[in-house]
Amino acid sequence: MNTQVEAFMTQDQASAGQSQGAQVGLSRPHESADLHVSGEAIYTDDIPELQGTLHAALGLSQKAHARIVELDLEPVRRAPGVVAVLSAADIPGVNDCGPVIHDDPLLADGVVQYIGQPMFLVVAHSHDAARRAARLAAVQYEELPAILTPQQAKAAKAGVLPPLHLKRGDPDAAIASAPFKLAGTFECNGQEQFYLEGQISYAAPKEGHGVHVWCSTQHPSEMQALISHALGWHAHQVLVECRRMGGGFGGKESQSGLFACLAAIAATRLNRPVKLRLDRDDDFMITGKRHGFYYEYEIGYDHDGRILGARLDMTLGAGFSADLSGAVATRAICHFDNAYYLADVDMHALCGKTNKQSNTAFRGFGGPQGALVMEVAIDAIARKLGQDPLDVRRLNFYGTDERNVTPYGQTVTDNVIHTLVDELAASSDYRARRQAVREYNAASPVLKKGLALTPLKFGISFNVPAFNQAGALVHVYRDGSILVNHGGTEMGQGLNTKVAQVVAHELGVDLACVRVSATDTSKIANTSATAASTGSDLNGKAAQDAAAQIRRRLTEFAAQRYNCAPEAVRFANGTVTIEQQSLPFAELINAAYLARVQLWSDGFYATPGVHWDSSTMTGHPFYYFAYGAAVSEVLIDTLTGEWRLLRADVLHDAGKSINPALDIGQVEGAFIQGMGWLTTEELWWNKDGKLMTHAPSTYKIPAVSDCPADFRVKLFDNRNAQDSIHRSKAVGEPPLLLPFSVFNAIRDAVASVNDYRDEPVLNAPATPEAILGALTELRSRSAH
Ligand code: MTE
Ligand code: MOS
Repeated sequence: MNTQVEAFMTQDQASAGQSQGAQVGLSRPHESADLHVSGEAIYTDDIPELQGTLHAALGLSQKAHARIVELDLEPVRRAPGVVAVLSAADIPGVNDCGPVIHDDPLLADGVVQYIGQPMFLVVAHSHDAARRAARLAAVQYEELPAILTPQQAKAAKAGVLPPLHLKRGDPDAAIASAPFKLAGTFECNGQEQFYLEGQISYAAPKEGHGVHVWCSTQHPSEMQALISHALGWHAHQVLVECRRMGGGFGGKESQSGLFACLAAIAATRLNRPVKLRLDRDDDFMITGKRHGFYYEYEIGYDHDGRILGARLDMTLGAGFSADLSGAVATRAICHFDNAYYLADVDMHALCGKTNKQSNTAFRGFGGPQGALVMEVAIDAIARKLGQDPLDVRRLNFYGTDERNVTPYGQTVTDNVIHTLVDELAASSDYRARRQAVREYNAASPVLKKGLALTPLKFGISFNVPAFNQAGALVHVYRDGSILVNHGGTEMGQGLNTKVAQVVAHELGVDLACVRVSATDTSKIANTSATAASTGSDLNGKAAQDAAAQIRRRLTEFAAQRYNCAPEAVRFANGTVTIEQQSLPFAELINAAYLARVQLWSDGFYATPGVHWDSSTMTGHPFYYFAYGAAVSEVLIDTLTGEWRLLRADVLHDAGKSINPALDIGQVEGAFIQGMGWLTTEELWWNKDGKLMTHAPSTYKIPAVSDCPADFRVKLFDNRNAQDSIHRSKAVGEPPLLLPFSVFNAIRDAVASVNDYRDEPVLNAPATPEAILGALTELRSRSAH
């Protein structure tokens, strides 16, 4: 991990040489890095509290599915410090915070649908008083049958949405006539977003029926819309602001809505500022997570491992409401192919209704779940044929001129997977290490090694074309300093830094001259969620548009004033050069102000060429694809199931990176986060449907000590074939698929105990317990 800084230096120097005064293509620290480490960065809970601020907490359902026969809130009202208790009847507008379908009550009304569902809101003088009082309700339930797993939902044909289906060619015939078939089931569990800053909203009433809500959210415009519906108000009465989140990871795309709405309802009703900040356990119990999936699949293939036909039936554990499950399932269907051409394929997805938290966006948004089953299957095919899985993968990769149309009809025109994987296989010494692992295992009875290489291809853009738009507002003040506002939100990913770099580059000033202000619905209207990894693609382009308009006006002004051609005016390094003369940027700005030139501008961007027909599940949903690959080597202890990741080599395509340091950070973070999903993080519900792993004591996210000692992360030298912002590529989510290599390496190590003859039964997460179970099962198979 320590060699990376040097890698940035070389990349920096290279691009600095290319273009003098460039502000993009450079590793710059995160704009808030010093504030993060000194603790000065202001998160919602750090905003100095207004006088009279009250604190709210939620009373939660204790049953997975039940009618509420009686909800006695008197004991809650009488508790010390309590100011008000609100239930469904107190909601002035609609009792709903569903982003797509209106099936998501803010507070349960008559029926509860999962353990943890909010039933009432307590508002008190302190956070502690509110939480204590929330426990005191006397509730009588009449229990109803509950569905707790995707399998049960599938059997009951219970969906939160109609099922999805995409078919190309004749997979039945292709599979029937294939020389070999692989049929099986697989499961992956969900994953808690575990943002370090929990869900929080702070609402303050404003004069004349207005409300200002500070909210930790990836989607301020959605919050504004939901709050206005819940209040029965117009959008212009509601202002939502977010300076930064302490992580979102998808969990604050739609699901910050419940808290934003309830804080706003309480604040406007009581005419007092109200803060609703969740305790970690409540956050776990209430909010949705990554969807767990249950899969049934069948693949027909030939003697070389070429896939001839594939059938996939996925059931998502959607939870009790639709939330974003339809879009998650769509992305899963669009990523089953991963990097492989599937001529004949049939895919079904059911968003299974379960009496659990309503699952939602999580980094990758169904893409990881779609591709994981394919990667597991390819290793199984390779083992069956006694081939190296890399050879089977290469055979199935999308072609560049043929075999390059996805099942949903988009032609892959920017394929770099062959070159990228070749480069990684060489730099990681893949072939020799596969051999070394075999030799090690032959000589080691207890400790076993495994090694795997997995590729990724990830589609960039929102599947809903309308969401692919963004706005920005750039102000240049008289002293030459610049303030940028855009519709994206900062959650640690470095979006503000990249946008500031884009604006600094456009106006030829130093990065230090540019400041990015908090996201605010009163500045940029109708924004999309900062999601689908599109934050810098969309907002970077919008900000560039705004800055370019200002530069054009300045150019025109300077050309007139100095009586030269506009082409003779140059902006770089904080200096404006006009033929032989030059002057500081700030000086030109002040002169332009005095000449009454508009020194601020809005900007707008809409991704070109994307379209999608949801009825046929076909179109051109993605502007482009991001690629990557990883090689992971693990060591497992076959007596305990414990394991270590010894080494990971990553090569990831971020296009022409705007900021290589930030992008490497995103790749490393996504790798480790994805590894957590597939290995240590286990959501466990008891037989009544109660989530028992609702705190870090029982839910284990990776720690520094779980990172490989030898972690080699590199960006692939590429340039976006599409005209994206400075030809960069989105990097937030795609690398979450890289640690498939860890999961497959664990499966490889497990399979070694039967000399790679049998396929281990090992679902995700591969916890030590699950690994031990798989080993035991494999050994019992060989004993018979
Ligand atoms: N990185 C950090 N540090 N914190 C986060 O919450 N969210 C991820 C990714 N990287 C996240 C992150 C998710 S889910 C997405 S969609 C993208 O960042 C969103 O930001 P971007 O579009 O600007 O990349
Ligand atoms: Mo990311 S899951 O698209 O917020």
